Amino acid sequence: MKIGVPKEIKIGETRVSMTPSLCRRCVALGAEVVVQKSAGFTAGFTDAEYRAAGATLVSSAAKVWAQADLILKVKEPLPAEYGRLRAGQMLFTYLHLAAGAELAQVLLRKRILGIAYETVEANDGSYPLLKPMSQIAGRLAIQVGAYFLQSQHGGSGVLLGGIPGTLPGHVVVVGAGNSGAHAVQMAAGMGARVTVLDLDTRKLEALDSEYRGRVVTLMSNPANLEASVADADLLIGAVLIPAAKAPIVVSKKMVAQMRPGSVIVDIAIDQGGCIETIRPTSHEEPVYEQHGVIHYAVPNMPALVGRTSTMGLTQATEPFVATLVQKGVERALAEHPGLAKGVNTRDGKVVCGAVAKALGYA
Ligand SMILES: NC(=O)c1ccc[n+]([C@@H]2O[C@H](COP(=O)([O-])OP(=O)(O)OC[C@H]3O[C@@H](n4cnc5c(N)ncnc54)[C@H](O)[C@@H]3O)[C@@H](O)[C@H]2O)c1
Repeated sequence: MKIGVPKEIKIGETRVSMTPSLCRRCVALGAEVVVQKSAGFTAGFTDAEYRAAGATLVSSAAKVWAQADLILKVKEPLPAEYGRLRAGQMLFTYLHLAAGAELAQVLLRKRILGIAYETVEANDGSYPLLKPMSQIAGRLAIQVGAYFLQSQHGGSGVLLGGIPGTLPGHVVVVGAGNSGAHAVQMAAGMGARVTVLDLDTRKLEALDSEYRGRVVTLMSNPANLEASVADADLLIGAVLIPAAKAPIVVSKKMVAQMRPGSVIVDIAIDQGGCIETIRPTSHEEPVYEQHGVIHYAVPNMPALVGRTSTMGLTQATEPFVATLVQKGVERALAEHPGLAKGVNTRDGKVVCGAVAKALGYA
């Protein structure tokens, strides 16, 4: 199997899909690895390290896409990459097709075997390839939110931790899953007042017993959302319905009730966002203002910390990539139902139920 590692081209992206260490493992298992020159540079890996790990370095993305059986990426292919996809090729990356109808059409037309990181499942039904990036995005959401709350960045001038004698900032986290729980951890660690809402009582119970009163847990219903959002200095959107488009949980009306200069970070933007006033932004222009509230919705937040994110992502993808190399695609998918759950497109069809439903194919 020939694995291709192109340099990521999404604005501000710094991650790479393969470390030299993973490259060494794939080569030892019998794969050929083709890496685009400087693909690992922004994550702190040199071309020499890939060469030493057994990769062939090529000068252009075109050469990677043209040669590889399996394209290993981080972000979904962008329009500039659509033409590079070869009919029948295999693609293993984040795809987020529920919010990407155009890309889905390209994958179907070219009969791409599209395996999406975000729908690969572990034995316990969790999403091991989504988890590390969600943890990073959750932690970053507080850092980013604190930055935009600063007066010089257009924010309300609230310091999340406050100081003795002042009211700390109020962080409201909607969704208590991987990203939400890590946002809660950072916000509580900074000394903010923290409220977290979810529909899943088990998630709320776990946070309640972990923080013993330091964090308020609330059922996610319109009344609780309305009251919490109106008092939020920093609102974090962190909901997910696996493989589906994110539900709108916070309405425009609720956003309009927020204090001027408050900040929204909608982590769920990669699935379309869970806040009615949200639209995707980029690392170049990360925020916009609506109803006096600063909105941040960068779909690839982990790129802010390319080194940590690359290490976190590849330690999670490694067992699956190794399985594909060792067993070949057909056996790997037949023997590993969790990996098979990652298949979103195959032979010109959307084969993941939730994605098909979201795109209107089911
Ligand atoms: N922007 C980025 O850079 C970035 C990075 C990583 C992950 N993400 C995205 O963040 C989102 C969250 O991922 P996750 O791993 O935390 O998911 P998760 O499944 O661990 O958690 C999602 C939580 O949302 C809850 N939920 C569902 N509907 C709800 C509702 N109406 N109200 C309140 N809670 C509700 C679920 O019960 C669950 O606890 C996903 O869309 C993921 O793709 C974005």
